[in-house]
Amino acid sequence: MQVTIVRDKEQMGKRAAALIAEQMRAKPHFVLGLATGSTPLPLYHELIRMNQAGELDFSTTITFNLDEYVGLPPTHDQSYRRFMNVNLFDHININQAATHVPDGMAADPDAFCEAYERMIADVGGIDCQVLGIGSNGHIAFNEPGSSLASRTRVVKLTKSTIKDNSRFFARMEDVPTRAISMGIGTVLEAQRIVMLAYGANKADAVAAALEGPVTVSVPASALQMHPRVNWIIVEDAATKLKLEWDR
Ligand code: F6R
Repeated sequence: MQVTIVRDKEQMGKRAAALIAEQMRAKPHFVLGLATGSTPLPLYHELIRMNQAGELDFSTTITFNLDEYVGLPPTHDQSYRRFMNVNLFDHININQAATHVPDGMAADPDAFCEAYERMIADVGGIDCQVLGIGSNGHIAFNEPGSSLASRTRVVKLTKSTIKDNSRFFARMEDVPTRAISMGIGTVLEAQRIVMLAYGANKADAVAAALEGPVTVSVPASALQMHPRVNWIIVEDAATKLKLEWDR
């Protein structure tokens, strides 16, 4: 794993964008795995800037998002499809038909999950997966206890994640309790992984994932088993690290 600690989230976004842009320029029809949440926003800002400045082309890029809430239509304010449109896709020259976000309204969610895995396989797998980490160490919606071999499936969200997400909903009862999520096994099959983190509330999870044992109790620790992972961490999320990493 390559770990880079940066000063602020703008630096985090710029470093991640540079890394991804370099890979995208080397491979047409690049398959990019994307995340939602606050963590990747500085990255998306920079990717938009690069695209609008003519520095990076998305016309042949294919994307797959990690997850979506079950029961939220794509038009819902808090759906991840809408989040992606508003924060990235609407501002770049990507073919919207080549952007994939799990369908939270699928009539048969289990069949949808299998189909999503097949869609990823049919385009040759994910070239680079962007990840954020939950304060409990989750990746995508793989909560502590998820099998390290898990695949795309319907998952129940933990109380701590429902609480973390409640800031985006008017009432606690409105927060979805289930999601469709790529599995840890699915994520580990990406050719490369770019893991981003900022904020003091992530410091324990970052330290456990990077320097603790590989364990289902900290899903992000599974990244230790992947040969090509770049962690880009802002100082405030790196305060609990003990080893010497690049600064
Ligand atoms: C989102 C996702 C989640 C988030 C994580 C961190 O697609 O997969 O695992 O990356 O919950 O969320 P933020 O970035 O909002 O702190």
